Amino acid sequence: MLIRPLAPSDPPLLAALHAAAFPSGEAWGENAFARLVALPGAVGRLAAEGGAPVGFVLAQRAADEAEILSLAVLPERRGRGIGRALLDSCLDGLAGQGVGRVFLEVAADNVGARALYRAAGFVFAGRRRDYYGAGRDALLLVRRLSPPCAG
Ligand SMILES: CC(C)(COP(=O)(O)OP(=O)(O)OC[C@H]1O[C@@H](n2cnc3c(N)ncnc32)[C@H](O)[C@@H]1OP(=O)(O)O)[C@@H](O)C(=O)NCCC(=O)NCCS
Repeated sequence: MLIRPLAPSDPPLLAALHAAAFPSGEAWGENAFARLVALPGAVGRLAAEGGAPVGFVLAQRAADEAEILSLAVLPERRGRGIGRALLDSCLDGLAGQGVGRVFLEVAADNVGARALYRAAGFVFAGRRRDYYGAGRDALLLVRRLSPPCAG
């Protein structure tokens, strides 16, 4: 598996990965990704296997805080460490830019993603009622980052 930073030409790939990973969710189109990737403070990673994209993560930094906007792995490639590797690489990049706290929202019923974030050191910071529609709450999670070691 290869993990690399996102490139300006990636939005079509990101839109396709997002649609495959969230089939019943709100699709984020190419234009939405083009706008997000071009924002100052955007930090993202793409995972590929055999030259084919299999997952991505996209975060947005503002001063010394950041938010994970989206993390997705193709359904047939899950359970093999790709999501965790993407997240860890993104967190390393954010720490290298001086980020000290990372937030994200995850659906309360998204068991797999919640387990991944818990294993990666994220902790509960709040609940947003009905965030994803009636009866579907979001959990706000946070993780502190340490500055990278010098030298
Ligand atoms: C969440 C998602 C990115 C995880 O990707 P993945 O490549 O399968 O995750 P990994 O294989 O790296 O899993 C890392 C850890 O997360 C946990 N985990 C991941 N999926 C899990 C599941 N379905 N059930 C329980 N634990 C799970 C496990 O602790 C796992 O560690 P382990 O393999 O040692 O048990 C993937 O399931 C996905 O794309 N889901 C749809 C989109 C989504 O919900 N994104 C998050 C929105 S906030």
